[in-house]
Amino acid sequence: MTQLIKINSDARLDSHVMRNICVLGSTGSIGVNTLNVVRQYPNLFSIKTLTAHSQINLLAEQCAEFHPELVVVGSAAAAQELEKLLLNKRIKTQVLYGPAALVTAATLPSINTVMAAIVGAAGLLPTIEAAKAGKRILLANKEALVMSGDIFMKAIATSGAELLPIDSEHNAIYQCLPDANTSNGGARGAYSQFGVKEVLLTASGGPFRTIALSDLSHVTSDQACAHPNWVMGRKISVDSATMMNKGLELIEAHYLFGLAAKHIQVLIHPQSVVHSMVRYVDGSVIAQLGQPDMKTPIAYGLAWPRRIDAGVKELDFMSLKGLSFEEVDAGRFPCLGLAYDALVAGGLMPTALNAANEVAVQAFLEGQLKFTDIANLVEKTLNRSQLAQLGRADSLELVLQADLESRQIAQLILKDF
Ligand SMILES: NC(=O)c1ccc[n+]([C@@H]2O[C@H](COP(=O)([O-])OP(=O)(O)OC[C@H]3O[C@@H](n4cnc5c(N)ncnc54)[C@H](OP(=O)(O)O)[C@@H]3O)[C@@H](O)[C@H]2O)c1
Repeated sequence: MTQLIKINSDARLDSHVMRNICVLGSTGSIGVNTLNVVRQYPNLFSIKTLTAHSQINLLAEQCAEFHPELVVVGSAAAAQELEKLLLNKRIKTQVLYGPAALVTAATLPSINTVMAAIVGAAGLLPTIEAAKAGKRILLANKEALVMSGDIFMKAIATSGAELLPIDSEHNAIYQCLPDANTSNGGARGAYSQFGVKEVLLTASGGPFRTIALSDLSHVTSDQACAHPNWVMGRKISVDSATMMNKGLELIEAHYLFGLAAKHIQVLIHPQSVVHSMVRYVDGSVIAQLGQPDMKTPIAYGLAWPRRIDAGVKELDFMSLKGLSFEEVDAGRFPCLGLAYDALVAGGLMPTALNAANEVAVQAFLEGQLKFTDIANLVEKTLNRSQLAQLGRADSLELVLQADLESRQIAQLILKDF
């Protein structure tokens, strides 16, 4: 009821705004799903810019379908290759490459909406610049917020940008909160006034929830990437298997919703049907349920404050075999504890945590590190990272410095494994 009153009172519901979109990371799992939603609504959404790193053939196909003004790739060689492909198809899209061009793609005046779906720290600069430029940010790239927390939220608040969470858990919480609007970036602590007691982040537990602990050190990257419920990119799949993903989401929830760590609880929910919940002081718990399909939160973010058909199969309650919840086994998932500690320590610790984890996951995917050593490498890096231990996250420069320092330390420690 509150939702309906709130939405009906929003003037933006009646004024149709064409969403002119930049998709950062259009060739990834979130990027492709975004285009799957956009494709269904040519009168609502128009693709203006796309970015990818190395998947040139897929990007060329996307150009042929959506005719963006500009696309960005990772290197000069990739740009040359793409230009040839586009010339053959007689497509007149401009091609640029490199980090500065990512910022250009995300801040063009013709764009009002940016899907931030680059994986990892590489997404930080274009996303934060888009926030400063006042765009609607659809945030999938949680690492950008984890790295730069307060600075990112300040950029949103100062520019008046809209920030809509795309991570399914945060999107669920957003929908369950009394005022579904984090865009003022200043909701810090305010939810207690509305009787919010805590948020409950659900986690599937990933592919290794029940495997014998003695087998964990032998698991392969393909096993780690075979998520039981979600189809995702390889980095987030490994993060889900270690539950560092939930740790990053804990930090993400802290910044998005202004909640202290003690007001964010993580619950294992193996079916991935309840995407997250909000508990109120009167005993009510409001949950958002749905299929494990990222098109739902993507469509929510693209169309907000309206709702559109996301092209997702309806949830059939009769075929559900039950919904269960479990406590997290801290011994099995040490990464979650590391993330919790980094959040409580504050400052540049979340930046260092993210950097160390990116190095560790890459090393695991490349066969240089055992699965169980991902947490060990992260912990050792945090213990040695001077800047992260002492520094305050006062500027983007410091954040980038802490990111670099932690990566260098992690690479050095990696040699000892
Ligand atoms: N997948 C999900 O269901 C899901 C759910 C919630 C949140 N997220 C978050 O969304 C983000 C994207 O996840 P994903 O699963 O879509 O990842 P993904 O499938 O690996 O796609 C990553 C995208 O980023 C591009 N990219 C990779 N490295 C880059 C670099 N150095 N510079 C610029 N672009 C780069 C890739 O380009 P190429 O393909 O050309 O290499 C690709 O377009 C992550 O932060 C993840 O945590 C994902």
